[in-house]
Amino acid sequence: AKQAVLDQIASGFKLSQTKLHEITQRFLEEYALGLSAYNHPLAMIPTYVTGVPDGSETGTFLALDLGGTNLRVCEIQLHGDKTFTLRQQKYKVSEALKTGEASALFDYLADSVDHFLTEISDSQISNEEALSLGLTFSFPVEQSAIDKGILLTWTKGFAARNAVGKDVVGLLQDAFDRKHLHVKCVALVNDTVGAMLSRAYASGDCMLGAIFGTGTNGAFAVKVEELTKLGNDPAVAKGGLMILNTEWGAFNNSRSVLPSTPFDQKVDRESINPTFQAFEKFISGLYLGEITRNLLLSLVDSVPSLLFSGLSTPTLNSHYGFDTAYMSAIENAKTAQEVKQVLVENLGFKLEAISDDDAAIVRWACETVATRGAYLSGCAVAATMIQTGHAQLGGGSGPEEKILKVGVDGSLAEHYPGFQDRVRQAIRLIVGEEVESRVEIAMAKDGSGVGAALCALQALKQAPSRP
Ligand code: BG6
Ligand code: GLC
Repeated sequence: AKQAVLDQIASGFKLSQTKLHEITQRFLEEYALGLSAYNHPLAMIPTYVTGVPDGSETGTFLALDLGGTNLRVCEIQLHGDKTFTLRQQKYKVSEALKTGEASALFDYLADSVDHFLTEISDSQISNEEALSLGLTFSFPVEQSAIDKGILLTWTKGFAARNAVGKDVVGLLQDAFDRKHLHVKCVALVNDTVGAMLSRAYASGDCMLGAIFGTGTNGAFAVKVEELTKLGNDPAVAKGGLMILNTEWGAFNNSRSVLPSTPFDQKVDRESINPTFQAFEKFISGLYLGEITRNLLLSLVDSVPSLLFSGLSTPTLNSHYGFDTAYMSAIENAKTAQEVKQVLVENLGFKLEAISDDDAAIVRWACETVATRGAYLSGCAVAATMIQTGHAQLGGGSGPEEKILKVGVDGSLAEHYPGFQDRVRQAIRLIVGEEVESRVEIAMAKDGSGVGAALCALQALKQAPSRP
């Protein structure tokens, strides 16, 4: 009877090939909507970044990176031979800053840059020329220029007041000015765009920049003509390319094709942004642990109990008490004993309270939830391959047999065991083996720093000709 319950749950998480195709097809439809008009959940945001680097770029820049696990300030030297040197310092953003007044958050960002400049960097602050800084701001921002953009909404647990609807570069620059810091924010970039640019800088080319971390999202280049919603924006030269920030975390907010289970519904209902960021809530590091916690507790609570003899712990009982990092550790475990160790050390279980069967069920739950997330991630990558003309739904070659480079970053991509293999399995089921074998997924090392530097460089080059 126990196995029947587990099988029943597993079937709700399973994604058949037909289902993967259906999701990818819907992805393409939502891509098309977002390219043609504003105000769609899949925002397909024009970034005003109009070229992909080739590794020959040079210069020294500051970068500030907000939106991942850590806030970082970096100083990047691009050497022009595909290599760079980066010095960085991480800072913590408290829950109070994430959900308080935006001015306090931006003051903290300026303080961090100030600390970096006085304690870490050897950039000289001169009175004449301000230091140029690129801001990697990993939230949905509707850009109107490379250095201007309005925050559409917060994601990933941020909810600072009085920021939505405002220009984030203006908010940051005001904070620098309040502190009389001689730093000028010249460019604004999403972390996905950073991943794409840095992979291109290091390897000469990149089809997709993607983040699988606290949140998930992707960026790719389109011909300006395909971005029909831009109309006749005089600031944009026709005939060229522009990088788009898809904000695919908001794919299928209607959940018409996403495979929701009761455990997902609960995560969404109790989240800071119910009904928004639907896709992200199935995939990213902020939520996987919480989905798994819901699943585990349903087994603890079933009658008769199927897990831990019906007992739990205060940590497992608390919202977000089961971190995605524990899932990584559990899937990495070689023995039941190692799984138990993770539960003892992090969840407050007594060793003798966990049976081998319990350990096996916990491991199965982690694998079930994480595999579905990785498969859905594969749908996003495959949809982008199709959208950019490199693959077809259901198989068949693209027009050219080239290597398709994907630059990724984020804690799941970097640390979750088997993540990349599972993503590739899904890609294979969607576009076929031949094309999948040409996909080269690699970490976009220090993507946000290098990407922000490259954008700052582009902004400075464009500056003289701008009104
Ligand atoms: C980091 C980038 O490496 O990855 C950030 O510097 C990005 O810009 C982050 O947001 C995503 O990963 P995570 O797991 O920290 O959300
Ligand atoms: C969220 C943000 C998006 C970001 C992603 C990864 O989805 O909205 O801008 O790129 O997280 O950090």
